Amino acid sequence: MAKQTYILGIESSCDDTAAAVIKNGTILSNVVATQSIHQEYGGVVPELASRAHQQNIVPVVQLALQKANIDKKQLNAIAFTRGPGLMGSLLVGTSFSKSLAMGLEIPLIDVNHMQAHILAHFIKSEAHTTPTFPFLALTISGGHTQIVKVTNYFEMEIIGQTLDDAVGEAFDKSAKILGLPYPGGPLIDKYSKLGNSKAFPFPKPKVGPLDFSFSGLKTSVLYFVKRNVKEDPNFINKNLNDICASLQYTIVDYLMDKIKNAVKLTGIKEVAIGGGVSANSGIRKALKNAEKNFDWKVHIPKLEFCTDNAAMIAIVGELKYKQQLFASNDIVAKARMEL
Ligand code: KG4
Ligand code: ZN
Repeated sequence: MAKQTYILGIESSCDDTAAAVIKNGTILSNVVATQSIHQEYGGVVPELASRAHQQNIVPVVQLALQKANIDKKQLNAIAFTRGPGLMGSLLVGTSFSKSLAMGLEIPLIDVNHMQAHILAHFIKSEAHTTPTFPFLALTISGGHTQIVKVTNYFEMEIIGQTLDDAVGEAFDKSAKILGLPYPGGPLIDKYSKLGNSKAFPFPKPKVGPLDFSFSGLKTSVLYFVKRNVKEDPNFINKNLNDICASLQYTIVDYLMDKIKNAVKLTGIKEVAIGGGVSANSGIRKALKNAEKNFDWKVHIPKLEFCTDNAAMIAIVGELKYKQQLFASNDIVAKARMEL
């Protein structure tokens, strides 16, 4: 590897257009254009997402290069998200990356978005610790809920995952039922700090020891709200903090049950979390407690590397660059992809 390697990472799998530059493990720039257009629809609209990516991708890449203070001619490779994600969104990043790599006559590197969420832990930063192999990765976001056993950089096995909605969806859909704007996860977290978590017990869905299910929880929130609003139209307003606290308690407890099962079954006590839901104060506190009480080692990256971002794509690009794992020009985006 050249002494100084500059890799540009590009992410466009869902509703964030992102670009980042990494130099020997250190992120020089990490730019994300979040698409606010989806807020009024209460969720991501795929057609609007791909259009916004088309608008954003050139300025986002230009800004990432500018912030990194380098010229595009200094880049050694382009890493891009191949999948999984929304096809229309992925196509924008894939086509753009191919053209840029071709124009600059540098290698193109394909990255699996889910691997990237996990390998984000290897970005050099004083703000987080780096896991040692083997470790368990819990990826929790609006699109994913997975427990992965990570044996090496590119040796990963999904040992548990959601059978329906992702945990972020459980937060967002419940928030919508409560009349809160999208994305409701951060608001539930905020209000839950002021409420009683034992006020309204919600049932924890029953599936396999390492699997997750959230669609039943959303339904029970809906029936709970309907039933109570019928008796008192002001029920939500009067009890918002307690409802949020109870809901958050149930979800966090459920996530912790699963990760505890995974630790027990694999004997691995090193746990790394990623994805937007890792911003949740409840899960952070529960993991910190587990670290103390059960002698686990817990790794929580900086939030900007947890939510969808291109820094995580760039670090995988760098790891693959070292091994000369390049993509050919006829590579295609994939909406569904294994780890
Ligand atoms: O990783 P991310 O930015 O995008 C993907 O979904 O891939 O995650 C966004 C999700 C949303 O569902 C949002 O509600 C949730 O993360 N989220 C939270 C919190 N902050 C973000 N959920 C609960 N508590 C939070 N503090
Ligand atoms: Zn993601």
